[in-house]
Amino acid sequence: LICDRSFCFVYKPVSLSLSLLVCLSAGSQAQFPITQNVTVVEGSTANMTCRVDYNDNTSLQWSNPAQQTLFFGDKKALRDNRIELVRASWKELTISINDVTLSDEGQYTCSLFTMPVKTSKAFLTVLGVPAKPEITGLSRPAQEGEDVTLTCTTSGSKPAADIRWFRNDKEVQGQKEINATGRSFTVRSTIHLKVDRTDDGAAYTCVVEHIALGSLPHQVTEVLEVHYPPQVQIVRSVIVPQEGQYFKLECVSKGNPLPEPVFWTKDGGELPDVERMIVEGRDLIITTLNKTDNGTYRCEASNHLGTNRDEFTLYVYDPNALTQPGPDHALIGGVVAVVVFITLCFIIVLGRYLARHKGTYLTNEAKGAEDAPDADTAIINAEGNHAHAEEKKEYFI
Ligand SMILES: *[C@@H]1O[C@H](CO)[C@@H](O)[C@H](O)[C@H]1NC(C)=O
Ligand SMILES: *[C@@H]1O[C@H](CO)[C@@H](O)[C@H](O)[C@H]1NC(C)=O
Ligand SMILES: *[C@@H]1O[C@H](CO)[C@@H](O)[C@H](O)[C@H]1NC(C)=O
Ligand SMILES: *[C@@H]1O[C@H](CO)[C@@H](O)[C@H](O)[C@H]1NC(C)=O
Ligand SMILES: *[C@@H]1O[C@H](CO)[C@@H](O)[C@H](O)[C@H]1NC(C)=O
Ligand SMILES: *[C@@H]1O[C@H](CO)[C@@H](O)[C@H](O)[C@H]1NC(C)=O
Repeated sequence: LICDRSFCFVYKPVSLSLSLLVCLSAGSQAQFPITQNVTVVEGSTANMTCRVDYNDNTSLQWSNPAQQTLFFGDKKALRDNRIELVRASWKELTISINDVTLSDEGQYTCSLFTMPVKTSKAFLTVLGVPAKPEITGLSRPAQEGEDVTLTCTTSGSKPAADIRWFRNDKEVQGQKEINATGRSFTVRSTIHLKVDRTDDGAAYTCVVEHIALGSLPHQVTEVLEVHYPPQVQIVRSVIVPQEGQYFKLECVSKGNPLPEPVFWTKDGGELPDVERMIVEGRDLIITTLNKTDNGTYRCEASNHLGTNRDEFTLYVYDPNALTQPGPDHALIGGVVAVVVFITLCFIIVLGRYLARHKGTYLTNEAKGAEDAPDADTAIINAEGNHAHAEEKKEYFI
């Protein structure tokens, strides 16, 4: 006997190739309540629907996981303002539960009061929304070389939320820990870093993903601030400083906190007190270079983590000495001579090669004449070929 909702079939095989189906009406067995599992996010409304396709005016009832009757037909049985009637008829009983909480989760029962009573179970699943995450463990600002542990925590998720970490949009692996807190979960993810100067300004983002959030995950970002000692480098404005020129030395200094101001010294002492020499911010400017400016210039920068310096030895060239005709001209002359010599060699080699190639060609043509059957043909051939060869020779020349 095979039954679906409204009919039963008797299946009786008669022979190997034949089978017989007998259909019997089964009126009273056609009455059954039909329900569906429901999943909602906490705080929203859950509609619980119970249907009966064929009903001879038998009452329907919804009861909660604690077996308390919520509605009997259109009659409210439990005093709970959140539970309301949506639709009541002989064919359907739908109720709504507003502002659903995690404790509403469980198995609800729809009963049809036939003899015997028929029931259908519907499971109400309530999703817990994870709270906005928080990042802790940031000792701001951190010092270079320090070990930093960042922790991102979110509570209230059900099922447990997923936490991902990103450093400037590049994912980094964290360590996840999940604890049950009542009906929901507290999820925590930690990352350990040994910070250096490249972490200064790096953005660490914690992303909380959950089914109840859909495609809009929660996220929170912390920007690291790392303190490190100064780094100093002197950059000069011209490669060959000449007397009378404008000249600038720039003291490029990094560090956090930014080392400011920077200090310039010359040969271990103060800068000479001349109008030509100006300190402007980080730059040392010499408006007109003079031979007396030769020496070692030092830029020094400090912050509370340390001091660093760079040095530059200035050597002022005499512009007259630089423009004297000398080795440069000799060098150019030498190069030109070599180029001319190579070109000449090439032309000679090429000429010899072409000449030799032409000779072989004529010899081969002459051979053809010798093989001719008689003298006339040979002459014709030889002359013809010779004429031909002359053409080729012209072509080669
Ligand atoms: C519940 O039923 C009511 C009435 O039919 C409808 O307005 C509402 O959208 C339904 N809610 C859900 C979550 O299906
Ligand atoms: C069900 O009740 C309605 C009135 O409420 C009545 O008209 C109808 O005949 C009844 N049906 C059955 C099958 O008893
Ligand atoms: C309804 O939920 C219960 C409990 O989670 C599960 O055992 C059952 O298979 C579900 N039924 C349907 C039709 O999804
Ligand atoms: C989980 O529980 C353990 C032991 O009670 C505790 O040490 C830990 O901090 C808890 N973790 C979270 C994420 O609450
Ligand atoms: C360089 O300085 C000396 C002394 O200050 C001065 O006599 C001389 O004229 C200067 N030379 C140039 C090219 O400015
Ligand atoms: C500075 O260097 C130039 C370049 O050789 C040199 O001619 C000059 O004598 C030097 N002047 C001093 C004061 O050392």
